[in-house]
Amino acid sequence: MQEATKQGTAAAATALTPAEREALEHVWIHTARWLDLAERDHLRVIVRGDGCRLIDARGRVYLDGLSGLYVVNAGHGRREIGEAMARQAQEIAYVSSASYTSLPAVQLGDVLAGLTPGDLNRFLFCSGGSEAIESAMKIAKQVQVMRGFPKRYKVIARRGGYHGATFGAMSITSSRNETYFGPFMHGVSFVPSPDRYRNAFGIDGEAGDLMCAEAVDQEIRAQGPEYVAAVIGEPISASNNSHVPSPRYWQRLREICDRHGVLLIMDEVINGFGRTGRMFATEHFGVVPDLMTMAKGLSSGYAPIGAVAVRDAIYEEFKRQDVGLAHLLTFGGQAVACAAALKNLEILRAEDLPRRAAEQGRYLLGALEPLRSHPTVGDIRGTGLLCAVELVKDKQTKEPFGWGPAAGAHPFSRRVVEAMAERGLLTRCFMSIQCVPPLVVTRDELDRMVAVIDESLTVAEREFGFAA
Ligand SMILES: Cc1ncc(COP(=O)(O)O)c(C=O)c1O
Repeated sequence: MQEATKQGTAAAATALTPAEREALEHVWIHTARWLDLAERDHLRVIVRGDGCRLIDARGRVYLDGLSGLYVVNAGHGRREIGEAMARQAQEIAYVSSASYTSLPAVQLGDVLAGLTPGDLNRFLFCSGGSEAIESAMKIAKQVQVMRGFPKRYKVIARRGGYHGATFGAMSITSSRNETYFGPFMHGVSFVPSPDRYRNAFGIDGEAGDLMCAEAVDQEIRAQGPEYVAAVIGEPISASNNSHVPSPRYWQRLREICDRHGVLLIMDEVINGFGRTGRMFATEHFGVVPDLMTMAKGLSSGYAPIGAVAVRDAIYEEFKRQDVGLAHLLTFGGQAVACAAALKNLEILRAEDLPRRAAEQGRYLLGALEPLRSHPTVGDIRGTGLLCAVELVKDKQTKEPFGWGPAAGAHPFSRRVVEAMAERGLLTRCFMSIQCVPPLVVTRDELDRMVAVIDESLTVAEREFGFAA
């Protein structure tokens, strides 16, 4: 209990609630820095939520501009999901994922097969996005070996992409931290991502996207097609600031992968479950990947659950050879988590939340548009309720703010985040301010969000000396 005050924060500590004092003492909040929590009043112990609202231990009320962490698509405080989980826990909470399955896992697989595109009909359940990515890479590598290609182990990923924090998932994430964690998984290379604002080849519009697709072809040839297992990317990359590529980009990638016998993995961990205005973002592009990873919005965060959706032809190989997957996760298909996901999917469909996300997203993009007059707003983009306001030091050169000390955000972006929180909006900003509220967000809440972003930019710009 003494730790907060040891750091010379007596004044701040006296204002803390008991829960906040305990949090400072015992909880490791994943990427948070100590002085932000102990001295700069960034610590928030959230005690309740309702729709898009969050309430903390001090009774402060916030608008959740990030759906937790791109998770709570159905909104906070859904009593019916909790009740479904309680009912399932009383029946059976856990069965061995090695040998058995449970009724809610069976029902969830059935519902997902009806929702996912094409013949993505088989689901391997796990506990979250990183595990889904690890599982997808292992399925891809095992099936390549089983098909007679034992040398196909390489994975091609895209610059700016994020796929998780476990070792394999981190290795295919281009911002991986070499200093702390290198060397990484062998055989990973990166190609440019579609970006209509700063295209890697200096080519505008769809032609720039298609150059990025050709770069994948070149990379497969450079690595040697006989060595490449899979290509992976998010349909619309949130970590790369939500650029929406032309459908032809993904269609071309599909053709390229097919031509070279490479599996295409599409990562819907953020994009899935209505976030982009369709149930899955792949639907915008008319492409069926070989493997699709999902998590976050699958349960809207009411339980930790992820999944890999697999096309028939892949599972057929395991059937034909009568071979099991050399991979086992204890909590894959945990029954209570499956019950949460089932009820969440029922809500997403009953309330037509993907369509609502599309409509509210169009409204949000329109409302954000006037912010382009800010000296630091370089671009505004997105689709559905996955929108981003990209900040730049200089609109002419498009110079980004980049990173600040200790791999954190630049001090300007940090100030914007702080100013938003002071005004009751919680979200994050590295290169861009993330506008990713729960799909139940109202027009009034969107207006409030935009007003807070506007005011917060004005405050930070004044403090950092940007001319209006
Ligand atoms: C696209 C994508 N894939 C995978 C992950 C990893 O998910 P998790 O944090 O649940 O392990 C994330 C996390 O943000 C993500 O954004």
